[in-house]
Amino acid sequence: MRWLLLVVTLFFLSSCTVEEEPLIAVTIFRSDDAFMNEVTAQIEAESAGGIPVVVREAESSQEVQNQIISDFIESGCSAIIVNSVDRTASGLIIEKCRKQDVPLVMINREPLKEDMAKWDKVYYVGARADVCGRMAGNYLASYWKSHSKADRNGDGIMQLVILKGETGHQDSELRTEYFLQALAENGVRIERLGEESANWQRGEAREIMTEFLLSSDGIEAVFSNNDMMALGAIDALKEAGWFDDGPYMPVIGCDGIEEAIQAMEDGYLLYTVKNDAENQARAAYRIASLLAEDEVPDEDSIGYEMDGRYVWIPYQEIVL
Ligand code: GAL
Ligand code: CA
Repeated sequence: MRWLLLVVTLFFLSSCTVEEEPLIAVTIFRSDDAFMNEVTAQIEAESAGGIPVVVREAESSQEVQNQIISDFIESGCSAIIVNSVDRTASGLIIEKCRKQDVPLVMINREPLKEDMAKWDKVYYVGARADVCGRMAGNYLASYWKSHSKADRNGDGIMQLVILKGETGHQDSELRTEYFLQALAENGVRIERLGEESANWQRGEAREIMTEFLLSSDGIEAVFSNNDMMALGAIDALKEAGWFDDGPYMPVIGCDGIEEAIQAMEDGYLLYTVKNDAENQARAAYRIASLLAEDEVPDEDSIGYEMDGRYVWIPYQEIVL
């Protein structure tokens, strides 16, 4: 009888997550997004010497990501960091984790308020997209005012095109809205000659910018919701004879990735705002680590200001 008890006890212990080493599971919306790759690399770097992480990419499919999260839960991980494919799917993800009591840190794609309210073990780490939009708008307004030749046709109006990120992403909507508001507050009149989503992607942005250039020859400025699309716009502009020996076009991005800083130094990209991957990653990892150990994160233990279960990492101006 004794041996049976021993077998049963061993079986119970081995299937019980409490006895397992803690593990933080991370899932990212796709594997080829420049900014999210920086965040992922920083989370991995953060984990050195701490609770280990595993990372799985969802290849832009919410269905795939839901399965990844189920697998994470089944394998007994202690906390999950999610960069959702579709932020409106956060409610289901939160429910799923709540049922199995696996705490969650959502990053970069903000869940709806009502979904965040579903459980007290779900946190969000991100950046205030409106601030980024406002910085970009203010910068472009002062550029416009101090460069009279930027008004190429001299009509006193800025003819503008906008490259948006994914539709429905808070960063696409808010960066655009507050960029336009800042221009208006600075008294800059604009005419939108084009506005389209290029899904954060350089290749798509290049194609769309090429179309914009073909359909109107009066473009005077380009606002892009991120650096990659800004670089795509610059690719298209160069192909069409802008820059270098041709005319200059003010192009604005966001993220502050290395390639964009290089493009700024080389005189192509006018301006970008730093979306702080390192601090977003560190805050998310620290919160997940505490949750993994059954602790309640607070400002002292994570080292970042908290607004309830939200952590907002500030954007930073990048001026060379
Ligand atoms: C934004 C970032 C974009 C893209 C997106 C993914 O914050 O600016 O470049 O990475 O997140 O959700
Ligand atoms: Ca004009």
